[in-house]
Amino acid sequence: MKLAHQGININDSHWTVFIAYIHETLKELGVESKTFDNLVSFASSLKDEIVDLF
Ligand code: HEM
Repeated sequence: MKLAHQGININDSHWTVFIAYIHETLKELGVESKTFDNLVSFASSLKDEIVDLF
């Protein structure tokens, strides 16, 4: 995961937009909020390998 995201300078505000898009998309599709919570929890477990790598 680190290798794929290294050198493209993804920061916290990119991360926030990423999560917001997931939220909007799942809402639009009528997916229950528990699924969103699970997805955010999974995504967050990988955040250190994606954000602020430089
Ligand atoms: C949990 C969240 C994420 C997962 C599981 C994930 C997963 C991946 C994977 C597996 C790749 C490699 C794809 C390939 O080479 O075939 C990739 C590439 C990439 N990801 Fe993510 N990603 C996540 C979040 C993000 C975020 C938040 C951004 C930017 C806002 C992002 C931007 C990119 C970009 C630009 C690439 C292409 C890099 C390149 O090929 O040079 N990703 N991601």
